[in-house]
Amino acid sequence: MAARLNVKAIVFDLYGTLVNISALNGRCGEVYANGEEFCALWRAKQIEYSFMSSLMGRYHNFLNLTERALDYTAERFGVKLDAQQRKRLLNGWVEPTAYPEVASVLPKLAEKYSLVVLSNGAPRMLETGLKATGIRTHFRWILSAQSAKIYKPSPRIYQLATQKTRLPKNRILFVSSNSFDVLGSKSFGFKVCWVNRGKAQLDPLGFNPDLTVTDLAEMARSLGVKSA
Ligand code: 2OP
Repeated sequence: MAARLNVKAIVFDLYGTLVNISALNGRCGEVYANGEEFCALWRAKQIEYSFMSSLMGRYHNFLNLTERALDYTAERFGVKLDAQQRKRLLNGWVEPTAYPEVASVLPKLAEKYSLVVLSNGAPRMLETGLKATGIRTHFRWILSAQSAKIYKPSPRIYQLATQKTRLPKNRILFVSSNSFDVLGSKSFGFKVCWVNRGKAQLDPLGFNPDLTVTDLAEMARSLGVKSA
């Protein structure tokens, strides 16, 4: 598989791919009985607002959109958040929880490939979050939507990775768990690995990943990299 993909860099999505958004369910459960339902609507609105922001041509940074999505979700569920509760919920994005296999797999991949993060996240969110999860040192570059002033799946955000790495699109493997990101990166021209941890359904828009795995350890094995 590694020879067929023939890539020199691996570019990772962050939220939902390297870090677990469902880890926020607990904090959401502190303010609303069904934390999973609260977190799911919050994430859905956060991503919906990133799409709206891009289509309107009005960029707002991802932490700002995340706060607006929290406001919508709290009102939708009739929850009045005090300042401390808001801060604790938002900090969940600034100090995220990495998936269990990430810390052991990344250093092994870094021995063979240049590793990059390309995320909708604002620069401070990304730097703080990657340091908090202890994985920042494995990445050569951290690329934020803020540099392109537009969100995924716009080609202009994926272009940040070809510009920074100076590699052609087909020498980059883009890794994401998010369907819209898998489709967008494939449409752009990357080789794509879909990390489908929870048997999600891919949106049928005519773009399919080159590789589908259930976690990064399986991806490493497919690339011929021993991760254990
Ligand atoms: C990210 O860009 C798509 O939210 C996801 O990290």
